[in-house]
Amino acid sequence: MPYDPSPLPGSAPEYKAHIVLVPAQYARESMTWPSHMESVSPLFSELSSRAKKGGSLDGYAISLSEGDASLPEAQPAWDPHRDKAMRPPPSQVAEDEMYWLYAYNDQGKFVTWPEPISLRTLPSGPTLRTTLERMWKEAKDTKEAHIYVCTHGMRDCRCGVVGTELLHTLRDQVAQHADTCKQDNKAPAKQVRVMSVSHVGGHKWAANALVYPHGDWYGNLRTSDAPLLLRAALAPASSRHDLDDLRERLVLWPRWRGRLGLTQAEQREHMNEWGPPVVYTAHITPRARGGPSAAPSQVPLRFRSYAGEWFEVMGTIGESLMEVARRHDLPSIEATCGGSLECATCHAYICDAQKNDPMARGDLTQKPAKAEQLFGTTELSDDEDDMLEYAITRKPSSRLTCQVRVTQALSDWMMKEGGRVELNQY
Ligand code: FES
Repeated sequence: MPYDPSPLPGSAPEYKAHIVLVPAQYARESMTWPSHMESVSPLFSELSSRAKKGGSLDGYAISLSEGDASLPEAQPAWDPHRDKAMRPPPSQVAEDEMYWLYAYNDQGKFVTWPEPISLRTLPSGPTLRTTLERMWKEAKDTKEAHIYVCTHGMRDCRCGVVGTELLHTLRDQVAQHADTCKQDNKAPAKQVRVMSVSHVGGHKWAANALVYPHGDWYGNLRTSDAPLLLRAALAPASSRHDLDDLRERLVLWPRWRGRLGLTQAEQREHMNEWGPPVVYTAHITPRARGGPSAAPSQVPLRFRSYAGEWFEVMGTIGESLMEVARRHDLPSIEATCGGSLECATCHAYICDAQKNDPMARGDLTQKPAKAEQLFGTTELSDDEDDMLEYAITRKPSSRLTCQVRVTQALSDWMMKEGGRVELNQY
């Protein structure tokens, strides 16, 4: 499906908080959702009317998710063709249907209502809002992150198709990440849950996903974005906006629509201020004064893609491996921050060949035997080390390629001893 080219930043609706109802008794699969959830869920309908202008939840977004797939299916199931103008008939079963209420605010806080609620047990009037505000105030930072993908196919088939693909890919990605952490004997930075969500607005930018409690909304997503979306979810979720806030560095800027708590104008300004630079940094080789211009010293370098394709390309001594990779359009080096050590999207492995098979994927499990000689002063710094914590598949040979300079020694090692840059899968 082609991307919609209209600008994404500033396209997220202006909300202060978001409530997501998660079915607690039955699985309510997104394929059973009609175009308007008000027509089937009395609780959703009530909360949506409170969220209208002047209502007790003014400024809140209200959505619904599927619920755990292991729950029994509801009897009767919702009718996906139910007309949007219809309201659910009075039915004790429907009114007693229980949901977990997840609530996120614009300060990066997430709370769950202490027990499942139904329309009958919903606090009346402003009590819900005041209680949530108190709960957010008291909430500690959570080690959980939630990625909601809009899969609401009866609202717009683009969300049903591209959203569902993205949802499955993200779930695989989360499982892979958990396996990698297990192998490395490390706990994941966060427990990430990937859930479907009903219509959030902006179908033309399908697939749309929300990363909470960070509060970031993304659009025009494809399955290839899953690793970077996961990385954004694994990042800290504070609400400060400064360069010490790792979250700002790890936002998936090319797909960013906006954030809870920002007006649409602020979202656009925020993108201008914090988004990737328009012009990437370029290495300029100074000319020797008063003589013929010195030819830059070019050396051959070897990169290998995750799929096993070899690239032998020329690099200029002194430039970064990231700049070489980008100039030759090599896969998997996105370099969103342009080399300022603020994104980790230039992550790759610099490693020796496997002893028994020099053409296979290199030995990622250790840094090159000659690391000191090869990297010299560009050996792993503390800042790079910190930023690498946010690379999804970090290994002992991991480096941020924007931090590694091309040298004669690096080229010799690659050409004579089988050293290489192993590119990532993404
Ligand atoms: S390009 Fe962003 S950290 Fe290297």
